[in-house]
Amino acid sequence: MTKTITFTLNGEIRSFSVSADEKLIDLLRRHDYKGVKWGCGEGSCGACTVLIDAKTAYSCITYAFLADGKDVWTIEGIGSIDSPHPIQKALIDEGAVQCGFCIPGMVLSAKALFDKNSTPNKDAIKEYMDGNLCRCTGYEKIYTAL
Ligand code: FES
Ligand code: FES
Repeated sequence: MTKTITFTLNGEIRSFSVSADEKLIDLLRRHDYKGVKWGCGEGSCGACTVLIDAKTAYSCITYAFLADGKDVWTIEGIGSIDSPHPIQKALIDEGAVQCGFCIPGMVLSAKALFDKNSTPNKDAIKEYMDGNLCRCTGYEKIYTAL
């Protein structure tokens, strides 16, 4: 059984047909929002982070129908290679990106934090971003960049 849901995705109103048990990550990835990464699939790594109504959400454990009527952002709406968001530029300039798999989720979490608090200290950044895991960098350059 499917249902049509409508929500704002990266600033555009979009409608999608979803099944009751479809997860938001699957909906987004099947519509080519491939910046939403499948990592653990169980709410532990943060690779699938999106913003829903300005708060971070793990899209791998969020039912797609729960996005109905909400304001959803993926990394595709935040910045691009030609026009990176300042957070993306800071990460690049600091050399804080290695394989890059964790970075979309990191950027979205950082954006959620900075939108609430434009001058967080390093401890606040670490605490806010402890749900985003990185296998490559050891975190220091990421936190320094932010
Ligand atoms: Fe969703 Fe790891 S893939 S939290
Ligand atoms: Fe590779 Fe973070 S840069 S997982």
